[in-house]
Amino acid sequence: MNSAVAVAAHAKVNLFLRVLAREESGYHGLETLFCLVSLADRLRAERRDGQAITLEVTGAECGPPAQNLAVRAAELVLAATGRRFGVHLTLEKRIPVQGGLGGGSSDAAAALLAVNALAAHAVPRHELLQFAARLGSDVPFFIGGGPLALAWGHGERMLRLPPLPSAPALLLQPPVGVSTPDAFRQVDVARQGVGVRGAVALDLEALQSWGSVGRLAGNDFEFALFGRHPELRQAFEALAGTHPLLCRMTGSGSTILAVYRTAREREDARQQLPPRLGRCLSVETLAAPPAPPEAA
Ligand code: C5P
Repeated sequence: MNSAVAVAAHAKVNLFLRVLAREESGYHGLETLFCLVSLADRLRAERRDGQAITLEVTGAECGPPAQNLAVRAAELVLAATGRRFGVHLTLEKRIPVQGGLGGGSSDAAAALLAVNALAAHAVPRHELLQFAARLGSDVPFFIGGGPLALAWGHGERMLRLPPLPSAPALLLQPPVGVSTPDAFRQVDVARQGVGVRGAVALDLEALQSWGSVGRLAGNDFEFALFGRHPELRQAFEALAGTHPLLCRMTGSGSTILAVYRTAREREDARQQLPPRLGRCLSVETLAAPPAPPEAA
C-alpha cells in the first residue's frame, strides 16, 4: 500500500450556467455545462501515525485548515474507514481563489480520491460521490471522472458527455471580488417581475463542438452582475472583442473565459488586452479524464 500519493486538482469552467428557481432552503437549482481545464492545484496526501489531519498550503491564502474543504473531505474518508491512520495534506495552490474556477471544490475531490487511495480504495465510488455532494455543489463533478458534464440540481446530478476537443483558452480575472450568496441575491433581484423562463431543449449535437456551445445562452450571473460591476462588463466586452469561439463568465465570477481556435489566436488576443483589465492565464481545456492519484 502507498504511504503517500499525489494528484492534480484541475480547475473547471462553466460553459453555460442557468440559475433556476430559488428553493425553500434558500439554494437555487442550477443547470450547467462543466468543463475541466489544464490549470490545476497539486494535492499530496501522506499517511501518518495517529488520527490527526494536518494541512500545509503554499501559493495562496486559504483560511483556517479546519474549514478547508480538503481537510473535511479527508475527514469523511478516514471516518468511513475506521480512523486507522492520520493524514498530512500538502496543497500547492495555483488556481485563483474565489474566481468561479472551483479550486476549493477540486481540492476537496482530490482529497477524497487521494485519502481513499491511501486506504486501499476501501470506500466505493458511489459513496465517494455522496461525500462529494455533502461537501459542496461543484465537488461531484470533480470526482466524476470526465472532463465534460451537463449537471443540474445543485450540481450533484450529472450526465457525462463525450469530451469537446482540447482548445486553447484565456482566463481573465478582473480585480472584482464577487461573493457567491450576493451573486445569487442579485440574480433574484434582476429577475423580479420578469416572469417564468421559457422552455429549453438541448440537443446533444449542440454540446459537441465549440462553435455550437459558444452559441448557447450564457451565464445568468453575467446579466445580474455586470450592471453593478462595470469592471466586469468592460473585461467581458474586451475579451469578446478578440473574436473567441466562446466568451463567458464562469461560476458566479469573477473569472471570464474565452476559447480560441488556435494557440496563435489566443496569444494574439492576450497581447491586445490592456493589463488593467485583470490578470490573464493561458490554459487548455481537457479532452481526457485527469490521471488518478499516483505514488509520491
Ligand atoms: O455552496 P456555497 O456554500 O458556496 O453557497 C453559498 C451561498 O450561495 C448559499 O448559502 C446560497 O445563498 C447561495 N447558493 C444558492 N444556490 C446554489 C448554491 C449556492 O443560492 N445552488
